[in-house]
Amino acid sequence: MKLFDVYSLLDMEPVRGEGAYLWDKNGVEYLDFYGGHAVISIGHTHPHYVAKISEQLSKIGFYSNAVINSLQVELAEKLGPLTGYPDYELFLCNSGAEANENAVKLASFTTGRTRVLAMHGAFHGRTSMAVALSDNPAIQAPVNKTENVTFINLNDVEALQRELSSEEYAAVIIEPIQGVGGIRMASTEFLHAAREACDKTGTLLIMDEVQSGYGRSGKFFAHQWAGVKADIVSMAKGIANGFPVGAIIISPEIPAKKGMLGTTFGGSHLACAAAIAVADVVKAENLVENARVMGEKIVEGIKGTSGIKEIRGSGLMIGVDLSVPQADFRRVLREKHHIMTGLSGQYTLRLLPPLVIGEREVERFVEAFRATAAEMGM
Ligand SMILES: Cc1ncc(COP(=O)(O)O)c(C=O)c1O
Repeated sequence: MKLFDVYSLLDMEPVRGEGAYLWDKNGVEYLDFYGGHAVISIGHTHPHYVAKISEQLSKIGFYSNAVINSLQVELAEKLGPLTGYPDYELFLCNSGAEANENAVKLASFTTGRTRVLAMHGAFHGRTSMAVALSDNPAIQAPVNKTENVTFINLNDVEALQRELSSEEYAAVIIEPIQGVGGIRMASTEFLHAAREACDKTGTLLIMDEVQSGYGRSGKFFAHQWAGVKADIVSMAKGIANGFPVGAIIISPEIPAKKGMLGTTFGGSHLACAAAIAVADVVKAENLVENARVMGEKIVEGIKGTSGIKEIRGSGLMIGVDLSVPQADFRRVLREKHHIMTGLSGQYTLRLLPPLVIGEREVERFVEAFRATAAEMGM
């Protein structure tokens, strides 16, 4: 059997990781400024993470959501203060797409409405409702298209207020920082306008923090920079450092009914052990603040390099628009300087390092970035 050929693969196979570093099968060391696509939050093979998962696996790895699992309660209790949403409730699933799927379904159950307002350029995952919330024809199969979803431009306050002038919409879904869309930030004004319009019309405000959340932006959630509150927040990626966990946190004003949401694997003992370990480390090592400080140092370090058109983002979610195709720039960074980075569109380099990076990693990256720009004659 061969693999179904849907991914463009880089010519690199990591076989070991530690902190912000990776090694390939030839023993070559790489600095990881990609974080496995914003997933590696506490660094590779963090000792607390390895110990917690190993210990849990030796006891029980999985049973079912039909029985009590006090690890889920422990996780919820840890996420309360960490997220800044102590009174919200937690539902666990397996991925970011599934988290968004559940968020929208919950909004529809709660309001009894069918319509959702989404943003052009958004990405919410690959399941049925998630792709319906994206206007990217490359990911939306004809069967997924639905008239229930209306798209407006991110930060178009007028369009938002026009659409939300009646009680038709179940939800508005916003990535506070569009990731796949090129590190595009929702403005403070737009997020406040969304909150206000939702309050007026009984529409639920969903923040997709799958990529921007869990401390990456320098606040626990990126929308918290604007000082707004969501009704439902979806998360995944960084929440369990690579173990597949998705989650939504839900306002206490949204009533739970038995059977309205469910999952076989979500919130398993092993998944909870992984997520608890990450929550412990994020708190103990002050990683949200570290993301803010290191993000500022990266931007400061590369600012002014010739060939940079624009730098966007917050904390350790940074998009750098380049005057040359990012794929070429990224290749030189990887092949010559042994630094892994991400991409977004044709000209945007995407930086999503683990939240544990320090001054040493920032300096190595900045030096390599400047050298690459010079080598490419930018
Ligand atoms: C903002 C956002 N939402 C949802 C998803 C989908 O997450 P998953 O791939 O875990 O389903 C992603 C993945 O990149 C994302 O960036």
